[in-house]
Amino acid sequence: MAVSLTLHGATIEIARGALDSLGPRVVAQLPGHRVAIIADQQVAALLGERALASFGADARAPLLLTFPAGERHKTRQSWGTLSDQLITGGCGRDTVIIALGGGVTGDLAGFVAATYLRGVPFIQVPTTLLAMVDSSIGGKTGVDTHAGKNLIGAFHHPTLVLVDPSLLTSLPPHELRSGLAESIKHGVIADASYFAWIASRLRQILLGDAPDDETQLHLVRRSIEIKVEVVQQDERESGLRKVLNFGHTIGHAIEQVTAYGVAHGEAIAIGMVAEARLAEQLQLAEHGLADAIATVCAAAGLPVRLPAGVSPAEVVTATRTDKKTRAGQVEFALPRALGEMAGGETQYGVRVTEAEILNAIKHV
Ligand SMILES: NC(=O)c1ccc[n+]([C@@H]2O[C@H](COP(=O)([O-])OP(=O)(O)OC[C@H]3O[C@@H](n4cnc5c(N)ncnc54)[C@H](O)[C@@H]3O)[C@@H](O)[C@H]2O)c1
Ligand SMILES: [Zn+2]
Repeated sequence: MAVSLTLHGATIEIARGALDSLGPRVVAQLPGHRVAIIADQQVAALLGERALASFGADARAPLLLTFPAGERHKTRQSWGTLSDQLITGGCGRDTVIIALGGGVTGDLAGFVAATYLRGVPFIQVPTTLLAMVDSSIGGKTGVDTHAGKNLIGAFHHPTLVLVDPSLLTSLPPHELRSGLAESIKHGVIADASYFAWIASRLRQILLGDAPDDETQLHLVRRSIEIKVEVVQQDERESGLRKVLNFGHTIGHAIEQVTAYGVAHGEAIAIGMVAEARLAEQLQLAEHGLADAIATVCAAAGLPVRLPAGVSPAEVVTATRTDKKTRAGQVEFALPRALGEMAGGETQYGVRVTEAEILNAIKHV
């Protein structure tokens, strides 16, 4: 069954097999537009033909532009190359750009769309769990620089997000786990019963135990609903949207000190446990919350402790460079209980000293 939501003018449609209806959906929404699909080379090889075929033989053939897969290609250089290819391809203001792929493609193609001829319409077709439940929703686009991730970018909302959970079937297990960390986060910040549901369905989600369409659909749908509810209430990170950063302040610090040797979802899992521990130590959260999160993450095959060789002190130091640092204290989005965040009275930002952070990280 198809589910449809809206966020800032974007229609978000979730349905198995949705990829095959991409062409008709685009033509219905943006009639007469020139179509440029951007995909990384891996996704283009897997799904490019299907995406192109959905436009049928009659329509003007869409352009399929590709770049090498991987975070290290989410750069100004790729942005420049793709933009040049649009110019060479004669793409005018009546062009719609479609991101077909994971979060790297969505961020990069979205930034191309945000800047090409000062902005052209943009459609997201996420193909990883992380992109479906997180990066394709909310309008953030951008590229990395040597100085850090996502330092250059723009808000540019897609007009359509077409989510096809059946595309997850070809996704490698470690990519699935990475996205699952964000879904677990959604449960912690907004929905205790969703958290419990994920815990009870880990085998089906990760191993595809019983071919279970309903599980995939519910996983993706409920996470998207939660992200939409949060973003809708607060588009520019002034308040509630901060709760989506749960696990990310310490998680980003871990990514940084390991030079991104720990995958994002893994770092977030450790970050969620550490930040929940912090909330317990500050007596904001009920006792046992960090253990409950650790149990589910570990069962999902996600790490819940600092990797060997990483000291708690260097992680604390790395939190200083976080965008959320204010006056020597670091701001955290901390949970009160499963499904409920603390700090509503301070716009969901809780200021914490480095000694307190250190103490929590030591006790993950
Ligand atoms: N804009 C946002 O709000 C936001 C939020 C979270 C993360 N992000 C960004 O998302 C990026 C990470 O996204 P990601 O984890 O999707 O990485 P990714 O886009 O690199 O995809 C991971 C890998 O999976 C492959 N792949 C994609 N779909 C597949 C499929 N269906 N079957 C088989 N293989 C497939 C890709 O080729 C790639 O090698 C980061 O750059 C991060 O900064 C953005
Ligand atoms: Zn994340």
